[in-house]
Amino acid sequence: MVGEIYTEIILDLYKNPVNKGNITKPEIDVSGGNPSCGDQVEFTMRIKDDVIEDVKFTGSGCAISVASSSIITEMVKGRNVQQAKKISREDFFDELGNIIQTRIKCALLGFMVLKQGIEAYEKNESKPTIIKGIVI
Ligand code: FES
Repeated sequence: MVGEIYTEIILDLYKNPVNKGNITKPEIDVSGGNPSCGDQVEFTMRIKDDVIEDVKFTGSGCAISVASSSIITEMVKGRNVQQAKKISREDFFDELGNIIQTRIKCALLGFMVLKQGIEAYEKNESKPTIIKGIVI
């Protein structure tokens, strides 16, 4: 029953993803993919006074990778960079629920690409940061 509810959430987010799109002149532009299936995701983020004001994503992927990319955008939006950086895999999987145990790589695609973008931005002393071609 719980599994069915989570499956419905994933399918709904796949059909109607939240935060889909691109931000112009973003502070962070990061993309990457899973070479074993070819799925790709790109995140753009607007950051002001250290707060992630907006984040959007584009890409092509399986239902789980698209839905989980939507979910991570919701998790980081409104947080400051340090808080977003601290979101752990455990926090992320708590949010996703337990459906994804057999599709962990799909679920982590967006999470890992977005986190690498945030970490690079911080290392880059909060200057606009573009990273392409992360391999997950
Ligand atoms: Fe490629 Fe899911 S099948 S990320």
